Amino acid sequence: MQLLFPSLPLPPHTFLPTFTAFYGCHLPFLITPIVLFYLMVVLVVVMLLLLLSVHQWRHPKDKPLPPGSMGWAYIGETLKLYKENPNSFFANRQKRYGDIFKSHILGCPCVMISSPDAAKIVLVTKAHLFKPTYPPSKEKMIGPEAIFFHQGPYHSRLKKLVQASFLPSAIRGSVSEIEQIVLKFLPAWENTTLNTLQEMKRYAFDVAMISAFGHKQDKEINGIKQLYQCLEKGYNSMPLDLPGTPFNKAMKARKLLNETLRRLIKERRENEKQGGGGGLLGVLLGDQNQKVDQLSDSQIADNVIGVIFAAHDTTASVLTWLLKYLHDNGNLLEAVTREQEGVRREIIEANRRLMWDDTRHMPLTTRVIQETLRTASILSFTFREAVEDVEFEGYYIPKGWKVLPLFRTIHHCADFFPKPEKFDPSRFEVPPKPNTFMPFGNGVHSCPGSELAKLEMLVLLHHLTTKYRWQVVGDEDGIQYGPFPVPKKGLPVRVTPRNI
Ligand code: HEM
Repeated sequence: MQLLFPSLPLPPHTFLPTFTAFYGCHLPFLITPIVLFYLMVVLVVVMLLLLLSVHQWRHPKDKPLPPGSMGWAYIGETLKLYKENPNSFFANRQKRYGDIFKSHILGCPCVMISSPDAAKIVLVTKAHLFKPTYPPSKEKMIGPEAIFFHQGPYHSRLKKLVQASFLPSAIRGSVSEIEQIVLKFLPAWENTTLNTLQEMKRYAFDVAMISAFGHKQDKEINGIKQLYQCLEKGYNSMPLDLPGTPFNKAMKARKLLNETLRRLIKERRENEKQGGGGGLLGVLLGDQNQKVDQLSDSQIADNVIGVIFAAHDTTASVLTWLLKYLHDNGNLLEAVTREQEGVRREIIEANRRLMWDDTRHMPLTTRVIQETLRTASILSFTFREAVEDVEFEGYYIPKGWKVLPLFRTIHHCADFFPKPEKFDPSRFEVPPKPNTFMPFGNGVHSCPGSELAKLEMLVLLHHLTTKYRWQVVGDEDGIQYGPFPVPKKGLPVRVTPRNI
């Protein structure tokens, strides 16, 4: 194992007897300058080794590394991960080694965590020992000052601001705007075959844009939309920054996006008396009278871009699964439709629009969304990195190792969700056991956008189920990654008006 991991040092104290045995015998002899020099060297080396040993005592070196296989040198188990597909790769190893096991994937030694309690330690109770970690190319593309990449006071400060923009109290007033977006899309879907994922991305993107910038139609918004789409195309490409590559084009778009956002920030700062313009941007710009402690333009830009990223592909992928599960479970679709028709009747009787409170009275639809989040588990796991050597549940996790809480494996464990492969929203009639249901993560880095994402799904389902039906086109089962797991070909469906 040591051979496979040359980076793991031999315990320094194993060198100590060798040094003392060799140099100790010289002490009684004449102290010439050269001997003095050697003595000094020895002294320094011994002191260094002592220091290292003290550090070493703090290592729980009596604890073993978690069980598991590190695969071949350098490539580790990466090829197996791709060959087996991530879900069965993790499930097979969990069966063989237990809830905490090691592996070596994508060039990194990793520890996989698949028990709710251990995941809670990583994400909540000992979160300070495990920092978030992303490939440098993603950090470059989103912007290094975005919330995802940070720990500590800067992260807490940002988190408070981002959370403030997406709390139920902040988004309850957006129901009408989200509904307007839905009502704009639906007629265009009528009697056409659409790629569900692509359409859901467009919907979630429009919602993300109003959440980020508010309703004020600044002249920069269209430019931002176009640049964003360019950026997205290269986001999951090979990080090869050579002329013409998708990554290179995306990086150019990112630079232009930055310039456009800075212009917008400048305009909003100048027009502050007319109000910050709303949205997350308005919150991040803050109270301009309070000149101290303001976020810089680049901090604001990186976070606005980051939140739009986090908001739309995730929500769109879950929405795609929602349509798939409702399509495949006809009785459930009818029951959801009945629930939504009840809400619709109340709205029509009161001659008003859909409101936040209506969305709080959709218990079955809400459970269907929860079950979709569980079954699809589009974020199968997340990445953390041990910031120091950590003693963990009887094992030793060396500093720098990646630690992956496996959300999907926990969501698919029969101990917490009996018959886990069955799509059964009734399981959410009772709340899940603590830390067993984490579609939006857990702890300091948990998702601040969960309420907005659920609201988007409820509003869309309200209009879609009461007015339309959809038929999956083709019979291709299977999963594609775009970048999250979604039904093959983005779920092509034909949408038709419902016979009422
Ligand atoms: C169904 C849709 C969504 C899912 C499944 C989802 C899932 C998650 C998860 C699992 C995390 C935690 C990642 C980790 O611990 O490493 C997270 C973080 C985050 N999400 Fe979401 N998310 C969704 C929608 C949104 C939306 C709509 C927004 C925007 C408002 C958003 C903004 C964020 C941000 C900013 C973070 C980083 C938080 C931090 O580092 O403190 N997400 N999301």
